[in-house]
Amino acid sequence: MYPGKRILVTGGAGFLGSHLCERLANDGAEVLCVDNYFTGRRQNVAHLFANPRFELMRHDVTFPLYVEVDEIYNLACPASPIHYQYDPVQTTKTSVHGAINMLGLAKRTRAKIFQASTSEVYGDPDIHPQPESYRGNVNPIGPRACYDEGKRCAETLFFDYKRQHNLRIRVARIFNTYGPRMHPNDGRVVSNFIVQALSNQPITIYGNGQQTRSFCYVDDLIEGFVRLMAAPDEVTGPVNLGNPGEFTMLELAEKVIALTKSSSKLEFKPLPTDDPLQRCPDITQAKGKLGWEPKVALEEGLGRTIAYFRGIL
Ligand SMILES: NC(=O)c1ccc[n+]([C@@H]2O[C@H](COP(=O)([O-])OP(=O)(O)OC[C@H]3O[C@@H](n4cnc5c(N)ncnc54)[C@H](O)[C@@H]3O)[C@@H](O)[C@H]2O)c1
Repeated sequence: MYPGKRILVTGGAGFLGSHLCERLANDGAEVLCVDNYFTGRRQNVAHLFANPRFELMRHDVTFPLYVEVDEIYNLACPASPIHYQYDPVQTTKTSVHGAINMLGLAKRTRAKIFQASTSEVYGDPDIHPQPESYRGNVNPIGPRACYDEGKRCAETLFFDYKRQHNLRIRVARIFNTYGPRMHPNDGRVVSNFIVQALSNQPITIYGNGQQTRSFCYVDDLIEGFVRLMAAPDEVTGPVNLGNPGEFTMLELAEKVIALTKSSSKLEFKPLPTDDPLQRCPDITQAKGKLGWEPKVALEEGLGRTIAYFRGIL
């Protein structure tokens, strides 16, 4: 599919990045995976080391990078609240300086460039589900702002580089995604519940558990990335990529308990600041422009993810 194409994946040793590197390398691309290992691990891509088309490089995207590539997927950025709030200034720098550096590289090499944006750009949404035209309800000074506003600013930069320098851009707004190689301690709900269930610890529910999330299995998401990158240049996005099936936290906890046959009980804790109550993608654009929609059902994806966590715990 990609004979001779050189593709850079920043954040390539992370959860989504490692699956993307694997997919691109399997499809025949020359993959350059760049990561500073803040939340990613070499182990996530160790199975690709034997592939002569795969190369791994330690680099922080807040510094310029000089390489020759045809396509760039910019995924570098901690994605879970525990990690992005650990050093919020660095999180904003990674989103904003990282975007500037990668856009500069795309400008010099005339590479097509993809940005991993997020549903967090919608903040705590007051319309539901969220279409791409919704401008969001973000608190610019709250503890999540380093991530939300950093990603919003990165989107601004992508569209300004397109308008000003005619860059070929693609922006995906990613909704909650789960699967093997998620960080076991990153506080994200799917990994939390699975780790707690497998160790028969109480399952932590924030608030009353009625808040909903949509969960996309990683293979479905990566298919969306590849389709968006391959779409005609006028399809810049932003395009929502996620699974519109909604589940409450209580429903998710019950499914995880059933699939792991765990004896865990539920434990309720107060809702963290600015935690959105509902989040669900409107994927009309992805369906219409990319012919994409998720295929993997929640039970099936959870089963594969549980098998991964059983292997590492
Ligand atoms: N997983 C999701 O549900 C989700 C949802 C929305 C958006 N996203 C976005 O997708 C991207 C990947 O997320 P993920 O879930 O794989 O998270 P992750 O934390 O597993 O991956 C992020 C990767 O970026 C690397 N990184 C962080 N700062 C860096 C820097 N300054 N220079 C180089 N590398 C750096 C980390 O070491 C890690 O390997 C992120 O940009 C995230 O914002 C993910």
